[in-house]
Amino acid sequence: MTDSTPQYVGAVDQGTTSTRFMVFDHGGNEVAKYQLEHTQIMTKPGWVEHDPIEIWERTSSVIQSGLRQANLTYRDLAALGITNQRETAVVWNKNTGRPYYNAIVWQDTRTDRIASALDRDERGQKIRQKTGLPPATYFSGGKIQWILENVDGVREAAEAGEAVFGNTDSWLIWNLTGGPRGGAHVTDVTNASRTMLMDLETLDWDDELLEIFGIPRAMLPEIKPSSYTEGYGETLETGPLGGKVKLTGILGDQQAAMVGQVCFDPGMAKNTYGTGNFMLLNTGEELVRSKAGLLTTVCYQFNDEKPVYALEGSIAVTGSAVQWLRDQLGIISGAGESESLARQVQDSGGCYFVPAFSGLFAPYWRSDARGAIVGLSRYNTNAHIARATLESICYQSRDVTEAMTADSGVEVEVLKVDGGITANQLCMQLQADILGVPVSKPVVAETTALGAAYAAGLAVGFWKNLDELRENWNEGARWEPTWNDEQRADGYKGWKKAVERTLNWVDV
Ligand code: G3P
Repeated sequence: MTDSTPQYVGAVDQGTTSTRFMVFDHGGNEVAKYQLEHTQIMTKPGWVEHDPIEIWERTSSVIQSGLRQANLTYRDLAALGITNQRETAVVWNKNTGRPYYNAIVWQDTRTDRIASALDRDERGQKIRQKTGLPPATYFSGGKIQWILENVDGVREAAEAGEAVFGNTDSWLIWNLTGGPRGGAHVTDVTNASRTMLMDLETLDWDDELLEIFGIPRAMLPEIKPSSYTEGYGETLETGPLGGKVKLTGILGDQQAAMVGQVCFDPGMAKNTYGTGNFMLLNTGEELVRSKAGLLTTVCYQFNDEKPVYALEGSIAVTGSAVQWLRDQLGIISGAGESESLARQVQDSGGCYFVPAFSGLFAPYWRSDARGAIVGLSRYNTNAHIARATLESICYQSRDVTEAMTADSGVEVEVLKVDGGITANQLCMQLQADILGVPVSKPVVAETTALGAAYAAGLAVGFWKNLDELRENWNEGARWEPTWNDEQRADGYKGWKKAVERTLNWVDV
């Protein structure tokens, strides 16, 4: 396949449960894909960690295997993009490249007391105003603070300029460009906007916020645009690509999916179904502050153009609720079986499952909530629980669309979707029924990796402009609503009642 002009762009998608490497051609078609899962380390209720070394090793393996399987080399790649699970915090020693502690994952709730204390005084308001985020366990700031306060020697190392922080984008770029002893220490505006340490207007780390969390500025990566012609660095010849490829795109995974779904115009929205669900609405250059429980976040910034902002509804537990049916309850043996089991019944038999395992995120932001299955009678079976799980994914998305309409006045007319659960036909049909609008999925459903490839490729002129990307988007499947209004209203009323039951469960 090797030709003198690179025909493809590569992307690493470092997600919550797995890491994949993908290669795309100019038409946005998938040319190579290789994926590996990594361990979810859950040692206490509410704690979720990843081993950063395992993540780096899996990343190296998926790059090598992905290239090998497709008979490609680094020479076939015009550029490389990185996209990643956001907020997850890694702190490592910049001289040895060794992490001081496992990565604390975005779902981890150990900082619930730190978060709720912030909300009890004026600091909460300051954080909201500067970052567009509510104080919550979700974001990186409290996680870094926890490591500084609870892991021996890290505070001293941070003050001596030896301990550095990054989300998994920065961690991988550090290793890809310099090996363990250090390459570029960078991130992009979208990832930085989720740390709770960046001012949304200046796009720079904010001293007042750093002081609130007690974080030395020297720990933090340099913030760059999401698509960056100059490049963040080059991959090492001795690294997994086996040669130099320019790294020119970084996007948090949900923002990457916006780019992959070509949501470039204000008013365009998408919903990604992964471990959690993340619905984003492009608000253009306008920074819209939510009154309805959504986040304001950076959607992307291409080179020195003005940043584009988004409103986001983040839902912590959707795909991971299906995994819970498999791993903890053992009522299905694989994600696909959630559909066949749920299809054995016509409805959820009066029960609702609210999977508030990490508290409730958007639009509620309640770290005191915990999961509940309510409305059970002896009539109910595993099949009802499976169906209620799929419905919970859709009802949580309905909560978010209601908030988006309240904040922006924009009614979602067609919901663009992507991500793993979109392979579940029943779940997508339920989504159309519960929202009352059509649901549309592109042919290339790997929009997260595609978005990172687009950001990287735009930077090096592989794609000339956004119109070329728009032309690559084609509808692959569509689901039309079938419920009547009364059915929809009754179902949603039951859901709201069920959500009430999960609140005030733990003291924070
Ligand atoms: O904010 C968390 C999000 O970035 C995680 O996405 O796809 O890894 O579940 P995913």
